[in-house]
Amino acid sequence: MPQSKVIVIDYGSQVTQLIARRVREAGVYSEIHSCAATADEVAAMEPSAIILSGGPASVGENDAPTLDPGLLALNIPVLGICYGMQLLAESLGGELERSSTREYGPAELRFDSQCLLWDGIAGPTRVWMSHGDRVLAPPPGFAVTGSTATLNVAAMADERRRIYAVQFHPEAHHTTSGQDMLRNFLFRAAGLAPDWSMASFAERIIGEMKERIGNKHVVCALSGGVDSTVVAVLLHRAIGKNLHCIFVDNGLLRLKEADEVAEYLREHFDLNLTVVQAQEIFLSRLAKVEDPEQKRKAIGRAFIEIFEEEAKKLPHADFLAQGTLYPDVIESTSHKGPSAVIKSHHNVGGLPEKMRLTLIEPLRELFKDEVRKVAEEIGLPDFIVWRHPFPGPGLAIRVLGEVTKERLDVLRSADSIVQRELRESGWYRRVWQGFAVLLPLRTVGVMGDGRTYEHVVALRIVDSVDAMTADWSRVPPDVIARISTRIINEVSGVNRVVYDVSSKPPSTIEWE
Ligand code: XMP
Repeated sequence: MPQSKVIVIDYGSQVTQLIARRVREAGVYSEIHSCAATADEVAAMEPSAIILSGGPASVGENDAPTLDPGLLALNIPVLGICYGMQLLAESLGGELERSSTREYGPAELRFDSQCLLWDGIAGPTRVWMSHGDRVLAPPPGFAVTGSTATLNVAAMADERRRIYAVQFHPEAHHTTSGQDMLRNFLFRAAGLAPDWSMASFAERIIGEMKERIGNKHVVCALSGGVDSTVVAVLLHRAIGKNLHCIFVDNGLLRLKEADEVAEYLREHFDLNLTVVQAQEIFLSRLAKVEDPEQKRKAIGRAFIEIFEEEAKKLPHADFLAQGTLYPDVIESTSHKGPSAVIKSHHNVGGLPEKMRLTLIEPLRELFKDEVRKVAEEIGLPDFIVWRHPFPGPGLAIRVLGEVTKERLDVLRSADSIVQRELRESGWYRRVWQGFAVLLPLRTVGVMGDGRTYEHVVALRIVDSVDAMTADWSRVPPDVIARISTRIINEVSGVNRVVYDVSSKPPSTIEWE
């Protein structure tokens, strides 16, 4: 088990999770906790170092989150970032200046005095700023360690007490030496050892789950994607037969996908797995529904009913496990506490309350690429590890307009060509998601001697790191040409293929 543990205290910055992620990238275990946690609670977590994140508030303002002075009495190394720096300045007797305007963007950081954080880094160096308020004078005992053209105190430190603070964002990619600075904090200033990897993440989760669940039972909604499969395998290792997986085949899946995953799990793990064939129910609930939100609601409701029904046949469970990732969790203004809201479109939304189950979300701190590393660590095959994300409502939100069996079949055939060609050209792993969309309109074409009047398929292939933003993939024209030719030749009812060249924002990845 790793010895080092960094607690990131979340003051509501949009990029808090990036800090935790960079710490993990440096090989140190890291967790995010709400700034509502008291010093005693934090001490009980036995952190080896603490990082105070940035945040949108202004220190001293009504309702602004505060720093429990007890934290600084723990004698644990602390790094304050942005709002975290201002909190340190305020708590320890420095001078702050309020500002209603924000400085946002790159700046050149000069090193004003020696500091362990700057070890091995040549100054001046480019850093990323995003702040309003500023520190005018550091607290007693602190040296100004860095400044910029607009900030006299861009970084400060009391190395004797091992308290460091920076106004800029070392976690941002745009801060050229940001990762080196974080590493210097972890290894030089706090003296930690890089003793963590994705392999130890899996071990830790398995250990924690064993302890938390004991001999109770867990149900897990398996979707066939990498996230829920990783959750199921980790839980299976933790509690074995007390895990009950339910896979609902809603008829809205890709060609053969449901079978592939179920087969693999059955073959390789002695897992309790129920596959429910519910295609007809979903189709009947979707009849005549055209509005995307109504589709999601209808699918969500049907899913809950079926899942509940199946779960009743199993031994009583106290927990529901699901593969929520960090980007699925929208932290509510997080200083109000750890309450987190799941995206409204999440597939199992509503289940835990209805069935009075406690949620288990072992991956909720991770990004997709980190989950893929865990998946590789625990030995899952490439076709699961690298599977593109697939929405819970499935092909229903890619058949624009009314969803019928016929239209689903057309889309499924076109989509399977997209999947096959992306794989064969080597592009599948290079893009975030690639799929076909069936448009609710017909256009004129010519085939042989005749005029046709048939459907249009749109190709959507995007690059992204976490689906929050995305851009259309610059897949070579010959790959697109092959996909298009094959779809038009092989899928009857389609005579035109178009390529979607919109970025997110303002468009979204899915069309509905
Ligand atoms: P958008 O379309 O919002 O998609 O840019 C972002 C990511 O989320 C997936 N997505 C969904 N996933 N239920 C899901 O489980 C949904 O209703 C849903 N809608 C979109 C989408 O595929 C992309 O990865």
